[in-house]
Amino acid sequence: MMKLDSTQAFLKEEIESYQADVTRIHKMIHEKTGAGNDFLGWVDWPVNYDKEEFERIVALGERMKDKADCIVVCGIGGSYLGARAAIEMIQGLYPDNGKEVVFVGNTFSSTYVSQVLNHIKDKEVVLNVISKSGTTTETALAFRLLKQFMERKYGKEGAKDRIIATTDKARGTLKALADKEGYDSYVIPDDIGGRYSVLTAVGLVPMALAGIDVRRVMEGFLAAYNDLNTDDLAKNDAYRYAVARRILQNQGYNVEMFVTYEPQLNCLGEWFKQLMGESEGKDGKGILPDSATFSTDLHSLGQFIQEGKKVLFETLLQIEKPTLDTIVPNDPENLDSMNYLAGKNLDWVNKMAMKGTLAAHVETGGVPNLQISMPDMSGYSFGYQCYWFFLATAMTCYMLDINPFNQPGVEVYKKNMFKLLGKPGA
Ligand code: PA5
Repeated sequence: MMKLDSTQAFLKEEIESYQADVTRIHKMIHEKTGAGNDFLGWVDWPVNYDKEEFERIVALGERMKDKADCIVVCGIGGSYLGARAAIEMIQGLYPDNGKEVVFVGNTFSSTYVSQVLNHIKDKEVVLNVISKSGTTTETALAFRLLKQFMERKYGKEGAKDRIIATTDKARGTLKALADKEGYDSYVIPDDIGGRYSVLTAVGLVPMALAGIDVRRVMEGFLAAYNDLNTDDLAKNDAYRYAVARRILQNQGYNVEMFVTYEPQLNCLGEWFKQLMGESEGKDGKGILPDSATFSTDLHSLGQFIQEGKKVLFETLLQIEKPTLDTIVPNDPENLDSMNYLAGKNLDWVNKMAMKGTLAAHVETGGVPNLQISMPDMSGYSFGYQCYWFFLATAMTCYMLDINPFNQPGVEVYKKNMFKLLGKPGA
């Protein structure tokens, strides 16, 4: 399903020479003996997930199918990025299923929030608020505004039927609020942290509401679990990728640019940045994850990659089959001189751009490239790549002696902000 090609990465060490480390860490992950082991619930989630809740999510998608033309998803970080990455990857950016998905709760921007409220005022809305802690300020503030919007629009009872809460099973402000208001609620498991939670109710509820076949997503997740349940570097490309990152950092590359050629994967790049950045960037260590979409960004960042300071390597996610394709038409007048491409598939043009860029960056620019291939952008592939990247992240962090599952650094801004906002007790 997903293959790593490291032949263009100029690795100065053999990936296989890390086999002993990988074997040790593979054991640590599966026996849950490493740092942060309370948050390894995702490891067996493809088989251990709550089947009863999953069926409720599928039924929710069915029930809401004709009730809403606008799904509003309120959350931030791990309670936001995965769902958006999934929906955009699987449905594309302009799906014709009559459903719009709007994301809020991920910013304090007054303009953004005001425009969303205005944009959705005449739509039929279903609202999913997602917060594990229930106390995240961006999400809680947006939800306060949206709850009032929903109650004004549908009345208290009507709003209750259209608001869905995804939160902790027992604790937190959102849990208490959801219980009091009688919202349909779904659980974020205790032992799965935000950025590893997209295939819990956190991402599955928005996906089901958007009309995605979540069963296929979980099938892909399970397939990766089965394929990657081995410490053998010859058979586990997620681990090969984790090792290759470490080798490249040892060679002085401190930035990784996650590259795709599909705009519907922009948010997958954002998800990747959170997964790697929040997991690995601590104790003064880690690779800075960045992302780019080509060929768009070849007309901006391309210059730096080609000729700028040699700080980065690229991780290129190649999609074999596009979701849709179209043929370049012939134009008898040929005023734009594009007839040399007439009759060609647009995806073929995209792939030639990729081929040419790879050669430019690797051969001329000397930029190492790790290439990961994925068959398509289906739900199955989304599920598969989630497990692939979760496992790679855990491995690459443990290789650096880092706890992949906490994020102590993000509290610093919150502490300062709470003081400035006059939060009681801050
Ligand atoms: O990865 C994480 O844990 C974070 O990004 C959280 O998901 C994010 O801060 C949102 O937290 P919560 O779900 O508690 O609102």
